[in-house]
Amino acid sequence: MTTTNFPDGFLWGGATAANQLEGGYLDGGKGLSIQDVMPKGIMSPPTEGPTDDNLKHVGIDFYNRYAEDIALFAEMGFKTFRFSIAWSRIFPKGDELEPNEEGLAFYDRVLDELEKHGIEPLVTISHYETPLHLAQTYDGWVSRELIGFYERYARVLFTRYGSRVKYWLTFNEINSVLHAPLLSGGILTPKDQLSEQDLYQAIHHELVASALATKIAHEIAPNAQVGCMLIAMPVYPLTPSPADALVVMDVDHSNLMFGDVHVRGEYPGFALRLFKEKGINLNITDEDREILKNTVDFISFSYYMSIAETADPAAGAGEGNIMGGVPNPTLEKSEWGWAIDPVGLRIVMNQFWERWQKPLFIVENGLGAKDQLVEVGGVKTVEDDYRIAYLNDHLVQAGEAIADGVDLLGYTTWGCIDLVSASTAQLSKRYGFIYVDRNDDGSGTLERYKKKSFDWYAEVIRTNGGSL
Ligand code: BG6
Repeated sequence: MTTTNFPDGFLWGGATAANQLEGGYLDGGKGLSIQDVMPKGIMSPPTEGPTDDNLKHVGIDFYNRYAEDIALFAEMGFKTFRFSIAWSRIFPKGDELEPNEEGLAFYDRVLDELEKHGIEPLVTISHYETPLHLAQTYDGWVSRELIGFYERYARVLFTRYGSRVKYWLTFNEINSVLHAPLLSGGILTPKDQLSEQDLYQAIHHELVASALATKIAHEIAPNAQVGCMLIAMPVYPLTPSPADALVVMDVDHSNLMFGDVHVRGEYPGFALRLFKEKGINLNITDEDREILKNTVDFISFSYYMSIAETADPAAGAGEGNIMGGVPNPTLEKSEWGWAIDPVGLRIVMNQFWERWQKPLFIVENGLGAKDQLVEVGGVKTVEDDYRIAYLNDHLVQAGEAIADGVDLLGYTTWGCIDLVSASTAQLSKRYGFIYVDRNDDGSGTLERYKKKSFDWYAEVIRTNGGSL
């Protein structure tokens, strides 16, 4: 008999994004997305057009192998699978009036497979894959016109899939636009030339579009549960000085603003103060204010790491998932320099729950690591005890947060099958329970192999967390 903090019906599963695993970048009438000019992720400026070195063009060929992959997820006992719809499969340029039927049919087939295995879909509407045409012609979300294009796209999705999909996420890591305007907001103006006025206007457009999608989802599919999706990153003061604590408060505010608008339907006071002090004059219409009142049903987030902050300008910059910070000397780091902090997950879950009192959903968590394919008893596998340890420690802390009273709907590990990294565009940065034979130079058979963590996660799910 095992004990578990995880409630009955807890949604265990894995998460992915179209541009990082599908491949088939021109198949079925698909148009180009910003990812097609980001062969090196966010590590270098975008290219003029598609280049041959872009691993995302083939990804892990989920476009053709989805049935095989979903069967493997089912074998682990997944209750849910998070995937994104590639906007440019549905509207190849983004501003057309009619959707591309072939693109829609692809996701019908994916949903068929999920239904066959009793896996609940969890769909991200926009995950770092704005149609390239919208970036080139409108500078992405800087333009108010994007709200209408996104609305049309979302309406098509809710109409087509609303009876089959209950859980929707409007924008992946919406707060990341502060740090990666092209990746997150489809904004081609280089970050160092982008004014804060334009950046916050773009953010406002996304927030309005997100609320509008929530409204439409509830109208078209009354069963729909719509969530925002945030990067969750607890921020610690490097020292106990009030000056450091104040910097932490400001950094926290810059991120919490996104959740506040999604949950409360209006900008918090600290944001209004920030706009005033920076001389930012947002164009917020009366209609916008009404739309923003369509608040989310739940809050989803990614969690990989915490950061430290200080008022001391001499402290060096930290590495990590987009957000910077300064190095925290108390924490171990991953091979990519991301601070490993399971307790931070419990802390941030408590913070979100106490602040917003809405169900939470952890839709990304995991360890990017270099894996070694080995042969054990004639079977190829990866002995990824480091990944098991990372996930186990984080899940234990999620369980602690549930015991603290937090309402948690589910947990999906990032990259449940190896895929292309978002920040560095590498395949060698692996997160999966399933190893995919593809390398950074594009070589490999694309064969799938179960890692040791595959059985470990299957047991966690089978026991509803009792085996942790
Ligand atoms: C999140 C993104 O920021 O982190 C994913 O939503 C991404 O798209 C994940 O893949 C892990 O980051 P990376 O850079 O290691 O792929």
